[in-house]
Amino acid sequence: MDQYRVFGNPIAQSKSPFIHQKFAAQSKLIINYQSELVALGQFEVAVNNLIANNGKGANVTAPFKEQAFAMCDELSEKAKLAGAVNTLIFTDGVIYGDTTDGIGLVSDLLRHQVTLKNSNILLLGAGGAAKGVVQALFEQSPKSLTIANRTLSKAQAIAEQYPNNAIKAITFADTEELAFDVIINATSAGLSGDSLPISNKTIQHANTCYDMVYGKEPTAFLKQAKLLGVEHIIDGLGMLVGQAAASFQLWTEVNPDVEPVLHSLREQLL
Ligand code: ATR
Repeated sequence: MDQYRVFGNPIAQSKSPFIHQKFAAQSKLIINYQSELVALGQFEVAVNNLIANNGKGANVTAPFKEQAFAMCDELSEKAKLAGAVNTLIFTDGVIYGDTTDGIGLVSDLLRHQVTLKNSNILLLGAGGAAKGVVQALFEQSPKSLTIANRTLSKAQAIAEQYPNNAIKAITFADTEELAFDVIINATSAGLSGDSLPISNKTIQHANTCYDMVYGKEPTAFLKQAKLLGVEHIIDGLGMLVGQAAASFQLWTEVNPDVEPVLHSLREQLL
């Protein structure tokens, strides 16, 4: 049987095995997809072990996305720009790396009928989560794409990868003076329960507030957006299923139906 894994540390909370087994069942494919806790320093060993045991592919989550990138023989353009991969494909002794987080985010936004083309998009954060989605957002031809980060230099480093000042880098304070249609939170502030220094005025102007984090309760950012009456308020559960769907398609060439899987996951969260 074809073997797939999601590697991470921690990994017990991962919903990927559930999602991929559902996708496989939809398409009548028989695969074995499991989560694997990898000790720090043992990532390469774990990947080689999988390859030696009929491994066809793997997902990679924190803290191994950069190590996975370094280990690939071939990389997609998106992965090169992100400097990280979340999907490995093993074929004929070659390790190919791609990142599907951006596709997951964009597909979820489009599924919610959010307009990205010709919109002014604000991405909050400049860590791994932000880096993984910049290229996919940029490909949607927004009117502007701006990255705001607490540490400005990290936002600047991402923006500099793109020519002609196509992407702007600003501080949180700068967001006050600008107007955006779509605001996407890729900081980890929500995980620690922190709220972001984004003014009510800036949020109120937007038609969409998206938080890549998901949970039983909305994040402080989404609560703020809800109070202010923002039209589309979306958490990251759909992005999770969307990135999984894109990985599944890379491995099997089958495009799974995300809706029923998303529905079951949402019910499990409640
Ligand atoms: P991830 O892989 O989740 O992106 P990361 O690479 O550690 O994790 O990046 C975390 C991001 O959240 C960064 O953009 C970080 O800002 P800094 O670059 O200034 O550290 C941002 N972040 C975390 N906690 C935050 C908070 N309380 N307020 C604002 N930004 C925060």
